[in-house]
Amino acid sequence: MRVLTGIQPSGDLHIGNYFGSIKQMVEAQKTSQTFAFIANYHAMTSVTDGAKLSELTMQCATDFLALGIDPDKSTFWVQSDVKEVLELYWILSSFTPMGLLERAHSYKDKTARGIASNHSLFSYPVLMAADILLFGSEIVPVGKDQIQHVEIARDIAIKFNNQYGDILTMPEFRVQEEVQTVPGIDGQKMSKSYGNIVNIFGEEKKQLKTIKKIVTQNVAMEEPKEYENCNVYNMAKLFLEGDNLIELQERYKRGGEGHGHFKIYLGEVMWEYFKEFREKREYYEKNQDEVREILNLGANKAREIALSTIEKIRSATGIKY
Ligand code: ADP
Ligand code: TRP
Repeated sequence: MRVLTGIQPSGDLHIGNYFGSIKQMVEAQKTSQTFAFIANYHAMTSVTDGAKLSELTMQCATDFLALGIDPDKSTFWVQSDVKEVLELYWILSSFTPMGLLERAHSYKDKTARGIASNHSLFSYPVLMAADILLFGSEIVPVGKDQIQHVEIARDIAIKFNNQYGDILTMPEFRVQEEVQTVPGIDGQKMSKSYGNIVNIFGEEKKQLKTIKKIVTQNVAMEEPKEYENCNVYNMAKLFLEGDNLIELQERYKRGGEGHGHFKIYLGEVMWEYFKEFREKREYYEKNQDEVREILNLGANKAREIALSTIEKIRSATGIKY
């Protein structure tokens, strides 16, 4: 099975990214052929400061390695190092009906939030389809918000194959059902572009400060509290299992504690959960040359596969003359 996922280097990685995507990818390394890349072209839809984008790209690579992407098991690279993806993006554009993009929720959500509407934001799903189809991906682990984009990639692949024969592999999304969409501190989907994240590798004090801002219901300390729709609980449950999770539910139901107590608890379990990853991150932070070397080797491996697909496409479409 070929499993592929990408992540935008558009800000600090957050717990939604980890549980919605990275964790699945790390697990998939045990059984599948895995491809993970840093979607820096995609990030240009929100990061237009050049120095910042290049810094965030290295930061994201460092984070990925710290979180368990293993370059011996996964092909791991930066999107812009395999330029064939842009060629495929253009070719697929001719098989992308406008209506398909007009229906994309992500575009509508982002523009509704005031993010400038421009062509790259609109055609974003076509570039994502190119990422997926260039590498013959079979499974694409994503958060719930990205399901539609994988479906768009399938629609485009079907249209392309109808015209030129069975060249592109049909991808399928994979969502970790129990994770779904991780809420941000404002209760909306946690997203780097919405300024509502709890990041993975922050300083402890700053992290607690962010956690304290999580929006909660206003219920008196002594009253029992609902945990199902509580943003603090919905984050904490990602880090807990078995008895620990039940105990937290009991604490909500019992009353006598405020949301502030649950926030402190969330800060503690989260800090403990990422401890080993933080140590690994320190190593890669000090050895950025090693990170660059890993990315280079990854790009070479990725390019080999990209070239074999694009050659077939160039022949079939007549671009090769
Ligand atoms: P962001 O929205 O923060 O910019 P990306 O779009 O780069 O994140 O998403 C990278 C991966 O993380 C995708 O697979 C996406 O579905 C997943 N993801 C992002 N936010 C969440 C969330 N709040 N809950 C679950 N998964 C998420
Ligand atoms: N669009 C994805 C996101 O915002 C990131 C991404 C780009 C991606 N290309 C991809 C994810 C290909 C999976 C496969 O989350």
